[in-house]
Amino acid sequence: MDLEALKSQFIETYGEVPRIFRAPGRVNIIGEHTDHNDGFVLPAAIDKATYVAAAKREDRLIIARSVDLEGEISIDLDDPNAEARADWGKYVQGVAALTEQVGYKLTGADILIASDIPLGAGLSSSAALEVAVGFALRSIAGVEIDRMELAKIGQAAEHKYAGVMSGIMDQFVSAHGQTEHALLLDCRSLEWSAVPLAGASFVLCNTNVKHDLADSEYNRRRMECDAASAILGKSSLRGATLSEVANKDMPNVLRRRARHVVTENARVLNAVAALENNDLGRLGNLINESHNSLRDDFEVSCAELDTMVGIARRHPGVMGSRMIGGGFGGCTINLVEPTARDAFSESIAREYRDETGIEPEIYDVNIGDGVAECI
Ligand code: GLA
Repeated sequence: MDLEALKSQFIETYGEVPRIFRAPGRVNIIGEHTDHNDGFVLPAAIDKATYVAAAKREDRLIIARSVDLEGEISIDLDDPNAEARADWGKYVQGVAALTEQVGYKLTGADILIASDIPLGAGLSSSAALEVAVGFALRSIAGVEIDRMELAKIGQAAEHKYAGVMSGIMDQFVSAHGQTEHALLLDCRSLEWSAVPLAGASFVLCNTNVKHDLADSEYNRRRMECDAASAILGKSSLRGATLSEVANKDMPNVLRRRARHVVTENARVLNAVAALENNDLGRLGNLINESHNSLRDDFEVSCAELDTMVGIARRHPGVMGSRMIGGGFGGCTINLVEPTARDAFSESIAREYRDETGIEPEIYDVNIGDGVAECI
């Protein structure tokens, strides 16, 4: 990101010198669709981020523009929901309104947003926007809001303003990320720890498709999980065991949803043990099993993701490959031997293009830090 250019554009637009904040997107090593079931996740922040340049205003207006996306929005903090916003504006509106609703007093702000997180790739560009805006607003207003609270406000904005009933994973890791570490989060207690990723190298492959049903199917999966846990007499699927899921009388589709969540929680803990023992082969197997479970039991994969994973698994030097995020498009994460990265990146792009006719994107990502002010 060219911060000098962002700063100049801000000065040109608003006539003041901004402070600049950044919040990263994320990958998820393992633990998919477990966060909304009080389970375990193991995401990591990446070195692609959303940047918010901001300066304080003397009134209570938030004026926001985006470098890449159309439109200018204006939100009055004293009447933040006066006009319902669409597109990227709803995230800014949601975060501003909910921050005040929780009880923090903000000031007006001029804002200019830029991002190098690809949209619709399953790398949590919306969570990064929520966390970056929340952090910027709290910083220029001079109020203390801790990182977990920022994550919760972002998640609430996702629910109430974007209509997606997401878990806490994306906002959590955008707020807390640590260079070269994945974060093990217990989504029930919100306790977390940083797990070193030494030696593990990842390549992301973007299928460049995002099917329209992604958001509606996400909400439907959530309802299915809630229905399964109700039948099991649990407050969430976190408390269920595999034998309870196997033996309880319930519709087969709910049994498969529950089985994914229970086995995926176990895979997250096993993946942490594999990383601690430097056993990347084991980690790769768990990543493969995660994809199979998301494809067969949770049914959130799609033809393009399965094709991308299939090609990757045939490639020497790939230890594991799976879809990441909510599903129905976006990226796969690939655990790749460091020496095989270049050959892998070149051949997967060619083979995917040949098989699907779609041009993919391959990202060589590094694991970075969570939200911060840019110096
Ligand atoms: C999306 C949601 C997350 C999580 C993943 C699936 O990224 O925003 O909360 O549920 O899907 O693991």
